Amino acid sequence: MNLVIHDLTQEEWSKVASKYDGWKVISDNGTIKPCIGCFGCWVKSPGECVIKDGYDQMGALIHHADEVLVISKYTYGGLSSFVKNVFDRSIGWVSPYFEVYEGEMHHQKRYPEDKPMSFIFRGAGLTEEDQAKARGYVEAACRNFHAIIKSITFETLESADSKPQGTEDGLAPTSVQKAAVSGLASTSVQKAADMQDVSETMEAGRLVMLNCSLRADNANSKKFMKRVLALLDGEQEIINLSSYLAHSEQLVELLLSAERIVLGMPLYVDGVPSAPLRIMELLEKSGKAAGKKIYVVANMGLYESKQIRHLLSIVKTWCEACGSEYCGGLAIGAGEMLKMMMRSENIDKGPSKNMAEGTKKIAAAINAGQAIEDIYADPFKFSRGMYIFAANASWPLDAKKNGLKKKDLFRQL
Ligand SMILES: Cc1cc2nc3c(=O)[nH]c(=O)nc-3n(C[C@H](O)[C@H](O)[C@H](O)COP(=O)(O)O)c2cc1C
Repeated sequence: MNLVIHDLTQEEWSKVASKYDGWKVISDNGTIKPCIGCFGCWVKSPGECVIKDGYDQMGALIHHADEVLVISKYTYGGLSSFVKNVFDRSIGWVSPYFEVYEGEMHHQKRYPEDKPMSFIFRGAGLTEEDQAKARGYVEAACRNFHAIIKSITFETLESADSKPQGTEDGLAPTSVQKAAVSGLASTSVQKAADMQDVSETMEAGRLVMLNCSLRADNANSKKFMKRVLALLDGEQEIINLSSYLAHSEQLVELLLSAERIVLGMPLYVDGVPSAPLRIMELLEKSGKAAGKKIYVVANMGLYESKQIRHLLSIVKTWCEACGSEYCGGLAIGAGEMLKMMMRSENIDKGPSKNMAEGTKKIAAAINAGQAIEDIYADPFKFSRGMYIFAANASWPLDAKKNGLKKKDLFRQL
């Protein structure tokens, strides 16, 4: 069995479907839910997602496929929100256990294979630089998944073909329209930037802090954002993207009203999680997201904060597409450990030292409305080996809470 994961509209698919006779096809039927970051696919029902929406067996499907083809609209140097959603829901394909692989911290395999994967990115006017970004993203994601890249190709779309097929109001997609909306970022950055306009509703100086993790109040992102918030001038609050999942148009309006936006994000499969990515697509599509100052506070489960670089690049490319200013990001390695130190009085010392310094720098930049270079904060004087040892010791404990034994974590489907 071969597997194709695509974000083509029904019309586009009907033109190429005959090439994929006998393939298992994963496309957007309007029911897919975003990953909620519960790690259930590792410690509750190892290998399968706990959200039963028809996309819960992605890990097993990838395992059983002889090879995998991914067809995605080129979206800010990465995948469209639908295809990214499928990737986010596929992490059960690998095991929760960590190891050092190709010089970086990564997950161990659940299955023995090195899966061949091919990628087709579709977009209008993709430059060498655009292509290099997508290649860099795919290489990182495939390293993380232990997949082998068979090919990465780029298909040029006529701009007319690649125009987003929006909704009546241009904001809230219906389930049928979601597939089209997921591809709205396909136009070249320059062309899109020309189209953008500053929202009439934008209030000078207004700051919105968006916690993009669907773990909501329990998110590590929120803990790091609170640290930044404590250093900001004036009364500010953090809003949860999770509260707006069924009301994305309201969230878009809220974000359009801001001049400064701080995005708190977890790293998912080396990029932006699908839920905030969809909001970013909608903001670009609104044509009113120009003139904003965008900051990012991103954290991750693995150790090396440099692995967040593709997420920051995706946000930066999105800013260019919107005509907004990317003002810098704080990339926090080993977020799952450092979050435990957030309540400590001594956050400026020990492993959280670099992160604490980073929050001060980005908070000062937000207060001044200035741009800074990206900050990469690894744990201070806490070795990668120790982090891997501690993290690997925690998985059987989590499994036990769910009535599972250590061996269940290695389940193959
Ligand atoms: C679907 C999914 C994909 C993830 N992918 C990565 C990854 O590529 N690299 C990484 O370091 N951590 C990855 N993580 C771990 C999260 O980044 C980490 O747990 C983070 O601390 C979660 O932050 P939050 O509590 O704000 O959601 C992933 C987690 C999930 C649920």
